[in-house]
Amino acid sequence: MKLIVAVDENWGIGKNGDLLLSIPDDMRYFRETTRRAVLVMGYNTLLSFPNSKPLPNRMNLVLADIEGVKAPGTVVCGSMEQLFGIIKDMNTDDIFVIGGGYTYRQFLPYCDTAYITKMRFCGDADTFIPNLDELSEWSAAEESEVKEYEGVKYSFVTYHNSEPKAVGFSGVNADMPRYFEKKEPLTVGIAETDDKEYRKELKALLHAYFRPLEQGVSADEVAAFLDGGDSSFEDYLRGKRLIAGREDIDALADRYDLADKKAVSVTVDKNNLSVIDELTD
Ligand SMILES: NC(=O)c1ccc[n+]([C@@H]2O[C@H](COP(=O)([O-])OP(=O)(O)OC[C@H]3O[C@@H](n4cnc5c(N)ncnc54)[C@H](OP(=O)(O)O)[C@@H]3O)[C@@H](O)[C@H]2O)c1
Repeated sequence: MKLIVAVDENWGIGKNGDLLLSIPDDMRYFRETTRRAVLVMGYNTLLSFPNSKPLPNRMNLVLADIEGVKAPGTVVCGSMEQLFGIIKDMNTDDIFVIGGGYTYRQFLPYCDTAYITKMRFCGDADTFIPNLDELSEWSAAEESEVKEYEGVKYSFVTYHNSEPKAVGFSGVNADMPRYFEKKEPLTVGIAETDDKEYRKELKALLHAYFRPLEQGVSADEVAAFLDGGDSSFEDYLRGKRLIAGREDIDALADRYDLADKKAVSVTVDKNNLSVIDELTD
């Protein structure tokens, strides 16, 4: 597990629910570093994003102690235990804690690496994280060249934790991020059949493929999964048609014994899912 954060010279990270300074190069660094990641954040950090929307093309896990709350495109966890319960099958290297202060503090002992953007200014912050230079288990391993934006010098420093607490990751579902990657348009064959169930399922699969976790998953649903036995969270989400892989769509006609039927070929992308709605209604 890793964390990524931008700090000022007092290890301040935010003020009035927002960042201290938004450096375009740092935003790029964040996007690139977390490109294929599962993101862990607190509810306040989700609310700080434009329109409170999750970050695109990545799995967003949100900690929130609010009953019944659901946020489109995210999985809400009501506690750290719930969160650990659903990520235990994932690859620990894919998981990034992205804020804010309350959340970083809880997960710091479990992280083996911290990507810190050090900004040389005082942002008069109201939210802080611990100073890693004062924690004996953390040490700075690499530092980039020093750059400057609007008069503020900054650099990217990578820290390592010599004693990360174990979470017990199995890595069984090592490739969860693939469901959330940006999707190219997909050409699908829609079998010519009156079978309504087939069409309904095709529609559900295409929605899940292009818009994973479209409605969001609440902490109550996570609890139901954790109470319900031993399948992985990936299998649970796939079973509920909340995420889908290309292979699920390819296998559908076979499952309905329609592989030899005539098919209409349609190109679908994230922004024209209504094509599918029209063809399958
Ligand atoms: N500089 C950076 O790189 C960076 C990155 C991200 C965010 N930030 C800044 O950080 C600030 C937000 O930080 P924050 O400390 O206020 O909030 P936060 O960590 O984003 O979110 C805190 C919220 O998450 C919930 N939560 C956290 N852990 C939980 C758990 N174990 N179980 C249940 N719910 C949990 C809390 O619920 P309860 O209080 O109800 O328990 C609380 O509502 C903003 O200013 C933001 O801009 C900066």
